[in-house]
Amino acid sequence: MALTLSEMAVDVLTTADGREKTAKSRSYAARWFTARAEGAEIPVGTADPPLRPSRPSRPELLDPRDVPKRKPGSPAGRIALLHAVAHIELNAVDLHWDIIPRFAGTAMPPGFYDDWVKAADEESKHFNLMCDCLEAEGSHYGALPAHAGMWRAAEDTAEDLFGRLAVVPMVLEARGLDVTPGMIEIFRKAGAHDAVSALETIYAEEVSHVAYGSKWFHYLCGRQELDPTPQFHSLVRRYFKGALKPPFNEEKRAEAGLAPDFYWPLAQ
Ligand SMILES: [Fe+2]
Ligand SMILES: [Fe+2]
Repeated sequence: MALTLSEMAVDVLTTADGREKTAKSRSYAARWFTARAEGAEIPVGTADPPLRPSRPSRPELLDPRDVPKRKPGSPAGRIALLHAVAHIELNAVDLHWDIIPRFAGTAMPPGFYDDWVKAADEESKHFNLMCDCLEAEGSHYGALPAHAGMWRAAEDTAEDLFGRLAVVPMVLEARGLDVTPGMIEIFRKAGAHDAVSALETIYAEEVSHVAYGSKWFHYLCGRQELDPTPQFHSLVRRYFKGALKPPFNEEKRAEAGLAPDFYWPLAQ
C-alpha cells in the first residue's frame, strides 16, 4: 500500500535520528512533488501524529536558562551558534510535517500541502547544512546541550490551526528573519565561508516559510470573514508568552506579507 501524505508525515515525526529523519523528509517531499507533476496525486489521508516527535538521545535538552552562554566571537561560541541553529532546523522539520496530519480534518486546497512539504524539505536541507558545518569544525549535532521546550508552540496550538499559523511561521520563523543577518556577520568576520553560505541559503528560504504562514492565515480569515489584524493579535496573545522583540527586519517581513500593524502592537 502506498503511503498517504499524513502517513509519510508521521513516519518522519517518529524517526529519531536527525540525518535519518531529514533523509526521509526529503525523499517523501520528492515523492509528493513528482506525483503532483504527474497528475497522480498522493491523498492527504489521515494518521495520528505523536504529541511529541521522536528525537535522538543527544543533545541533552535543558531549560533555556541552563544552556551555557558562550562568547559569540570565539570559536566555541560559533560552534554553539551552529548547534543552536541545527536544533531549530530539526524542530522546524517536525513542525512543518506535523501541521499536515494534525489538521487533516480541516479541508484546505492542495497548495497548502505543497507549501508545508516544500518548507519541510528546505528545513531538512538546513539541518544537514548546519550538521556539515559542525562536522567540519570537529563537532556534531548532539555534542552540546540544546533548548528544551521548542515543541511547546506545537503542543499549545495542537487544536487550533489558526493559532499554529500565527505562532509558528508568523512569529517564530519571522523572528529568524530578524536575527539571521547578525549571525551571518559573525561568521563573515571569522572568515567561515561555508557557514556564511549555509546561513545565506537559510535566510533566503525562510522568507517563503513566513509567507506561507501569512498566506494561509489570510486565507482562513477570508473564509471565515474575520479581520486578520485583530485575529492575529488575539491568537498571539493567547498562545505566545511574552512580547515580540524589536528590532524587526521590516523589509523581509514585508516581503513575507507581514505588515507592521501585525507585529508592532505586540512588541510592548
Ligand atoms: Fe530553516
Ligand atoms: Fe523555516
